Amino acid sequence: MTIVDAHGLVKRYRTGGETLYALAGVDFTLEAGEFVSIMGPSGSGKTTLLNVIGLLDTPTEGTLLLEGRDVTHIDDRTRTILRKRTIGFVFQQFYLLPTLTAVENVEVPGLLDGDPDLNRRARDLLTRLGLGDRLDHRPDQLSGGQKQRVAIARALINEPAIVLADEPTGNLDSRTGRQILEEFERIADDEDVAIVAVTHDDLVNEYVDRTVHLVDGTIGQERLDA
Ligand SMILES: Nc1ncnc2c1ncn2[C@@H]1O[C@H](COP(=O)(O)OP(=O)(O)OP(=O)(O)O)[C@@H](O)[C@H]1O
Ligand SMILES: [Mg+2]
Repeated sequence: MTIVDAHGLVKRYRTGGETLYALAGVDFTLEAGEFVSIMGPSGSGKTTLLNVIGLLDTPTEGTLLLEGRDVTHIDDRTRTILRKRTIGFVFQQFYLLPTLTAVENVEVPGLLDGDPDLNRRARDLLTRLGLGDRLDHRPDQLSGGQKQRVAIARALINEPAIVLADEPTGNLDSRTGRQILEEFERIADDEDVAIVAVTHDDLVNEYVDRTVHLVDGTIGQERLDA
């Protein structure tokens, strides 16, 4: 199943008489369970593309279909609901709430839904991610890799079709980075979640199904891995 079908995405900024193309006509598709990396130099539009796919930003031109639905021109409220239901985010800086435990951090995106099973699901997710013995620890009691696994559990709590990760291994040493990438690989394979990871890290290419190269807001050569 095609989860993301983006066609001709343009993101244009006008600042002081200058026009800048953060995205200059990008086609991008993503299938369920695919693990794809986006690589490219600083300023090439990687975060912009992630934000457009993740409904955090709107394209100036082009169309975006999520799970077959045209979401290019939906209103803000629908956008927010759809984002919460469809997409999980993972960031380089983790963005955990410092006063909450691991379980409580994972519960946050599900709190308004009134699901009586939320706490059990949060515990299960953390346990699956190898943090069964860290459920009630606060972020300052966790290592970087453990914090990122809490962030991944939080991204998965609403059972998204897509996880979008911007430099998810950027703050981790290479061994811990590998553990996170193995986790993404497992989630994509076992749970059919599509994962897009923006990265500067060549390590990622050992784990992904495909790498998309962005240069100056356009897709360069795409390499298909075996
Ligand atoms: N709100 C904005 N207003 C003006 N220009 C912007 C805005 N957001 C991004 N840009 C520009 O768009 C281009 C792409 O930015 P983007 O953040 O997508 O790059 P990136 O590939 O993620 O870079 P990095 O690897 O440094 O994170 C850059 O030239 C950036 O300066
Ligand atoms: Mg970026």
